[in-house]
Amino acid sequence: MVNKTIPLSVPNLSIDILENVKETIETGWVSTGGRFIQEFESKIAKYVGVDKAIACQSGTAGLHLALRVLGIEHGDEVIVPTVTFVAAVNPVKYMGAEPIFMDCDKNLNMDMNKLEEFLENECHYIDGKVINKKTSKVIKAIIAVHVFGNPLQMEKLIEIKKKYNLKLIEDATEALGSYYLNGKYAGRHCGTIGDIGVYSFNANKILTTGGGGMVVSHNLELLDKIAFLSVQAKTDPLYFIHDEVGFNYRMTNIQAAFGTDQIDRIESFIETKIKNYNLYRISIESIEGLTLLSFRNDTRANHWFYSVLVDKEKFGMDRDELLIKLNENKIQTRPLWGLMHKQKPYTENQRYKIEEAEFYERNLLNIPCSSNLVEKDVRIVLSSLKSYNVSLTKSSR
Ligand SMILES: Cc1ncc(COP(=O)(O)O)c(C=O)c1O
Repeated sequence: MVNKTIPLSVPNLSIDILENVKETIETGWVSTGGRFIQEFESKIAKYVGVDKAIACQSGTAGLHLALRVLGIEHGDEVIVPTVTFVAAVNPVKYMGAEPIFMDCDKNLNMDMNKLEEFLENECHYIDGKVINKKTSKVIKAIIAVHVFGNPLQMEKLIEIKKKYNLKLIEDATEALGSYYLNGKYAGRHCGTIGDIGVYSFNANKILTTGGGGMVVSHNLELLDKIAFLSVQAKTDPLYFIHDEVGFNYRMTNIQAAFGTDQIDRIESFIETKIKNYNLYRISIESIEGLTLLSFRNDTRANHWFYSVLVDKEKFGMDRDELLIKLNENKIQTRPLWGLMHKQKPYTENQRYKIEEAEFYERNLLNIPCSSNLVEKDVRIVLSSLKSYNVSLTKSSR
């Protein structure tokens, strides 16, 4: 029996942040102005290799603003994955648009073959616009998620985006620090290749500011517009004149005070994540019925979340039984998100040949992966996994 809980994913915060927080208190800069915001934006921009980044309240807010500045309107349609956290889909609804759900591939990312097939067979392409044959509505954009920090097949995705003249939002909320090693985008970070990319600093992300997000783009006009809309679209700051409907979506200086410290430590977090992933991998390979999903080897993935597939016949219990056992043993694990196309607000929405995702929804388990997870705890998780394996239990009898 494990004494303390081994959590799934918790923040890795340094006490040094207190110096920054103290400064926000002493100066009174606690809201959406103050030096830490610009400093954090510059550090993120430099880290991912873009000229500019705009900090906001959350990844969800960033995605909402991205759709807004890319011109998604009421009645439009947007292609989204079914394997994702709901925050990648809800902003489509905020705009009065409708999501169309796509299946996933073996990396849990949007299946590019099915995406292409859908656009080819289920849509007309007229005057530079994609018209959905079923609804006669215009499909304007794709939101593609780098699931669990594993980079999307970006070359293919950009080819499709260009061919069909679609806007592309990269939901890189889970993929800060992941980049491509080979091919056309070698050296480019996830989030910096589509029209707009969005990162999140929610508590379980690779960096945290408590809650927060960052938007990047090579199109500086779009970023300026996002910055403007995020502070209530104030055209005249003295007389409070607003020519458009804006949002209260700007990051606060307190959040950024965390961020400026966290970003300096990201490479050491990723190093630990990769090291622990490899420890898991070597042992899980020898456990009958468990498979640790791999990260693409032509990329440097940030290894944010580790996913194990459970084969009931070979392992001796199914995913849910294993999850209960591990949780009883104070090892926190989690199934894959419920698929988006089956969530109550989206049951009527169009979906295209969703098959693979159902398999992963039933059989996938996320295991502890914090960037401050120590080797001793990885070994405890591994010996717990081994102890439930039917073949090992039998042979040791
Ligand atoms: C895939 C995905 N999209 C969007 C979000 C939203 O980010 P936030 O929680 O910062 O709003 C998250 C994380 O929470 C996420 O995992």
